[in-house]
Amino acid sequence: MRLYPGPPEELSAELVHADLEFPGLARSGNPAEVPHVAINMVSTLDGKVSTGGKASPIGSRVDRLIMSNLRCAVDAVVVGAGTVRAEEMNLTVPDELSEKRKAKGLSEQPLGVILAGSGELPLRRRIFRPEGRRRNQRLVIVAGQATPGKTLREASNLGARVVHTRGSGMPEPREVLELLKDLLNVGTVLLEGGPSVNGSFLSSGVVDELFLTLSPKIFLSSRDKLSLAASHKAELEITDFDIASVHSSPKTGELYLRYAKR
Ligand SMILES: NC(=O)c1ccc[n+]([C@@H]2O[C@H](COP(=O)([O-])OP(=O)(O)OC[C@H]3O[C@@H](n4cnc5c(N)ncnc54)[C@H](OP(=O)(O)O)[C@@H]3O)[C@@H](O)[C@H]2O)c1
Repeated sequence: MRLYPGPPEELSAELVHADLEFPGLARSGNPAEVPHVAINMVSTLDGKVSTGGKASPIGSRVDRLIMSNLRCAVDAVVVGAGTVRAEEMNLTVPDELSEKRKAKGLSEQPLGVILAGSGELPLRRRIFRPEGRRRNQRLVIVAGQATPGKTLREASNLGARVVHTRGSGMPEPREVLELLKDLLNVGTVLLEGGPSVNGSFLSSGVVDELFLTLSPKIFLSSRDKLSLAASHKAELEITDFDIASVHSSPKTGELYLRYAKR
């Protein structure tokens, strides 16, 4: 159901964000512009985004359905290495949405992008295995100077394309977006976490929108501390958002929130 903007409207879950169109590069026509970036996350009522290191216990089937609708509207889905280490996951859309993407002139599957830092990548995860990637999704690893060469060579042997950033540290968000635009023609990005990568993109000022599913759960555990964005900096940085839409599902009790950067 759509609650905002009003008046409220009955809407089946499959239709929430089903016809989204993000402003891409072609539309703006500005060559200096970086791709449009929307973050998508699910959190508990107390703001936790994982329990026992995993996000999968938080969202419902409806949340995953809406996530697929968001993936259906973008050129690339991006996650940090920490998220692929955390648990098995994919960056794809189901077959029926592949057809919808093709009808919109997009590739069958969004480009899958993993941001690597200084650690190893979990190459046994299905996301890296050609047989585990739905409909031959193209996978790109954006690597920093400190990313171990062996893990990148092995990922490349498994069919991933490796793109190196110039900076000395971790891949820097603006450079990542420029590389995706220049090398892979990416105009729209769905950033699906985790908190470290979200924090780094927010801090760089490149996030345009935030989609947040609020799950009607509270996690009480001293181990679960992650919220949707993390920072190592001591100073306070604030990003202000305006509410763009609110949907709900009485069946799941979840709220599906969309915010635009002010
Ligand atoms: N609820 C949700 O919607 C949701 C979504 C996604 C993830 N999660 C949860 O979040 C947790 C993982 O989050 P996380 O913060 O540990 O990992 P993350 O943000 O997924 O990945 C962080 C890692 O990515 C690499 N990296 C490359 N470029 C980076 C940059 N510019 N900024 C920051 N990191 C960069 C670094 O790898 P190295 O470590 O190799 O240096 C860094 O440690 C898991 O528990 C997962 O389940 C929840």
